[in-house]
Amino acid sequence: MSLRLVVAVSLDGRLAPPDGGAAQLGGVGDRRVLEDSLAWADACLLGAGTLRAHGSTCQIRRSDLLAERESAHRPSQPLAVVVSRSNPPPGLDPGWLFWRQPMQRWLAAPAGPEATPPVGFEQLLPLRGWSQLLTDLRSSGLERLVLLGGAQLAGQLLQADLVDELQLTLCPLVLGGPYTWLPDVSRPEPQRWSLLDQQHLGGGELLLRYQRSGNS
Ligand SMILES: NC(=O)c1ccc[n+]([C@@H]2O[C@H](COP(=O)([O-])OP(=O)(O)OC[C@H]3O[C@@H](n4cnc5c(N)ncnc54)[C@H](OP(=O)(O)O)[C@@H]3O)[C@@H](O)[C@H]2O)c1
Repeated sequence: MSLRLVVAVSLDGRLAPPDGGAAQLGGVGDRRVLEDSLAWADACLLGAGTLRAHGSTCQIRRSDLLAERESAHRPSQPLAVVVSRSNPPPGLDPGWLFWRQPMQRWLAAPAGPEATPPVGFEQLLPLRGWSQLLTDLRSSGLERLVLLGGAQLAGQLLQADLVDELQLTLCPLVLGGPYTWLPDVSRPEPQRWSLLDQQHLGGGELLLRYQRSGNS
């Protein structure tokens, strides 16, 4: 199993403007590499905060990627796994585009054995810690995971040493505000990463891909 965090970050390490909301930091080049990762993925994890901000999730639009998935007999879109502390998550709106997007929707939330998925979700995964969540996803045949954020989820999964790869698009913006892409991470020793790829994406954006190389 592999978990890849895919985010667009500002030069000062923010993934959203100071007042939050539906952040769109990246341009055309970022969209291209985001879709490459979606096409690789079996499933995407996103925090309920990101879903509430956007009312939708990222989906593949490029016809070459859709054709590749079809010829590999994969679903056209990766499955969306929304993570929340509540079942149902608060503040979901039935009018959101999310419910009409062409993908399966699962909810990961604390739940007893008898609990059922809330309206709009095909499956409920009882959330019993991050490591167990990844084990449960793997048991469902989902091996390649993209973590779409937001900041809370990124911070916790990195803190738990469960992110294998970082795909960062560095965007030429300085935003300020509280939305650092890695909130609340504290480590007794550095976590080290190896550079896998770097690309100019146009528009002043830079792609940086790193693989976790362990602690030292
Ligand atoms: N630049 C980018 O690439 C990018 C990517 C993603 C998001 N964003 C931006 O980031 C902002 C949202 O980020 P965020 O940090 O506020 O939200 P988030 O990480 O997407 O979601 C936070 C929510 O996740 C759930 N959650 C967090 N920890 C949990 C845990 N341990 N167990 C179960 N559920 C847990 C909670 O949902 P409940 O409240 O439902 O319990 C919490 O409110 C938005 O502005 C969005 O546009 C930017």
